[in-house]
Amino acid sequence: MKYIFGNWKMYLDFDESCILANRLAAESFDTQKINLGLFPNFLAVSELVKIFCDTPIAVGAQTCAWASKGAYTGAVSALLLKEAGCQYVLVGHSERRYIFGESSADGRKKLEAALDAGLVPVLCIGETEQDRKEEKREYRLKKQLLKALDGLDLSGRRLLIAYEPVWAIGSGRPCSPADADDIHGWIKLELKQYSDTEIPVLYGGSVEADNAAEYAARETIDGVLVGGASAKFETFVPLIRAVENM
Ligand code: PGA
Repeated sequence: MKYIFGNWKMYLDFDESCILANRLAAESFDTQKINLGLFPNFLAVSELVKIFCDTPIAVGAQTCAWASKGAYTGAVSALLLKEAGCQYVLVGHSERRYIFGESSADGRKKLEAALDAGLVPVLCIGETEQDRKEEKREYRLKKQLLKALDGLDLSGRRLLIAYEPVWAIGSGRPCSPADADDIHGWIKLELKQYSDTEIPVLYGGSVEADNAAEYAARETIDGVLVGGASAKFETFVPLIRAVENM
């Protein structure tokens, strides 16, 4: 079973989100082989939950607040997302970290809030181009995992990791499947110190219809987190079919 998660970022407006969701809901997918999830903008979450209610497609949010309730202008809590029907939430996506200045400490609090609300967090980690040049990839990932997971109570709770090298996101320059395979193996070994049960690790960063199956075919890669290519029916459905047919 491989995960295919689509992060629609802020690419689609409300109507476009609903149109794409309705087209996806009309397709049939091989649920023995793939686990599909979509991450629309906050305003489209409730509508997508309705559209996908009789389908195997799950809905997630792109971030959440770490607070549960109160005077937090502009914030949307994990509890509100759960109530709206979300199953998953992205935490620590690099666009949140580097564009909006979210710290690892914020990410840790968000993980706790998500788990407490009954959501499955998808913790995004990844090194920058600079890290790569300085051969600090493992150092960066180790640090991100430690800050997010040290002492976190994961017993009986699900968590997913998305390895998304920052330089590969939206660049058309993906991490090669062989390289991703190696680093996923390394991440899985690191994760053993935080959990007794296996935590799935997805690859993200310029995944397209013509390379998705190369990632998903690797044993260490439990699926893909897709940005740009998930926001269009014409690119997303062929990507899903490529993974189903591999
Ligand atoms: P991309 O984005 O597929 O457009 O590179 C991936 C992501 O940011 O999750």
